[in-house]
Amino acid sequence: MVVPIVGEHETEILHAQTHIWNHIFSFINSMSLKSAIQLNIPDIIHKHGKPMTLDQLANALSINKAKTTHLRRLMRILIHSGFFVKSRIQENEGESERIGEGYALAPPSRLLLKDEPLSVTPFLLAMLDPILVKPWHHVSEWFENDHPTPFDTAHGRTFWDYAGHEPRLNHFFNDAMASDAKLVMNVVIKYSKDVFEGLNSIVDVGGGTGTVAKSIANAFPDLQCTVFDLPHVVEGLEGNKNLNYVGGDFFVSIPPADALLLKWILHDWSDEESVKILKKCKEAIPSREKGGKVIIIDMMVDNKIGDDESIETQIFFDMLMMVLVTGRERSEKGWAKLFSDAGFSDYKVTPILGLRSLIEVYP
Ligand SMILES: C[S@@+](CC[C@H](N)C(=O)[O-])C[C@H]1O[C@@H](n2cnc3c(N)ncnc32)[C@H](O)[C@@H]1O
Repeated sequence: MVVPIVGEHETEILHAQTHIWNHIFSFINSMSLKSAIQLNIPDIIHKHGKPMTLDQLANALSINKAKTTHLRRLMRILIHSGFFVKSRIQENEGESERIGEGYALAPPSRLLLKDEPLSVTPFLLAMLDPILVKPWHHVSEWFENDHPTPFDTAHGRTFWDYAGHEPRLNHFFNDAMASDAKLVMNVVIKYSKDVFEGLNSIVDVGGGTGTVAKSIANAFPDLQCTVFDLPHVVEGLEGNKNLNYVGGDFFVSIPPADALLLKWILHDWSDEESVKILKKCKEAIPSREKGGKVIIIDMMVDNKIGDDESIETQIFFDMLMMVLVTGRERSEKGWAKLFSDAGFSDYKVTPILGLRSLIEVYP
């Protein structure tokens, strides 16, 4: 038994200090994971096909071999945060055999593999890029100034304007969105295909480089699909028989179609801006009787997924929307108000995407 050498009050203070230290150093988790991805560690262990010893891993990586002992330290934090596990392995050294330990992938690392079709790696690399991390250093300053976002305070222009002028940001952001789109559409086409039944045309509003529209166009060869996004995003992209690209601004006008899809659009914008976009959507679709609708894929907070991890994810995304753009994550009440303020009559929510929902909104 350990005999306490300090009193209750001091124990409390020491606990508080640990709590604060862990919050000060939360970024070490993200940055360690980013380093592992940049070093290609998940792919190398995966390709090895069985657990890898530290030396095998060090030899397979393009690192300075004098740093092998530091690699052990990086792997230790990534085991602690649940990305790798240590497994027992049999090592053959000449004639002798001995039981050692090797690194293997833990389940979340599967989504970090480069060749995994549903890889989250492009999203991770985008969110932890210095361009997107810098605004977090300006949040308190932003609370005191009159800039629309901390991103504007850090970079002197809006996120969308910066993306239009900095091709590296444009590319890594589009790649991040495309990786998420693959994961989401995999679920939507499998479990909610009926939302697209009976439509002749659909526009993916703010559809990025077209990953969502491509998967709809493939699943419904008779459905005419249009990707509508800012000119710098769709520039040079080519469609096919039932897919085309149109550049424009959704605050000005949206190409007409039976249905419009808005995935991860309205959470980027304030209530006032979202109502403007939704009004433009309403102008572009036919009446409800003629099959007109807007399909939204976005987060609906407080949707009774009450576990701590999900609540933290929702709060993280809400902060992300506050810091990079003018948006927010919304509760069902917040969404309902947007729909009625924009003149829509009704909506239906299908919570099929974990923290995100598919919302059909009717004129
Ligand atoms: C968060 S991304 C979502 C991309 C895609 N819908 C997805 O989920 O994969 C938002 C998209 O809206 C586009 N966008 C921003 N402002 C726009 C505007 N005024 N008109 C048209 N598209 C815009 C961006 O270029 C970007 O592709």
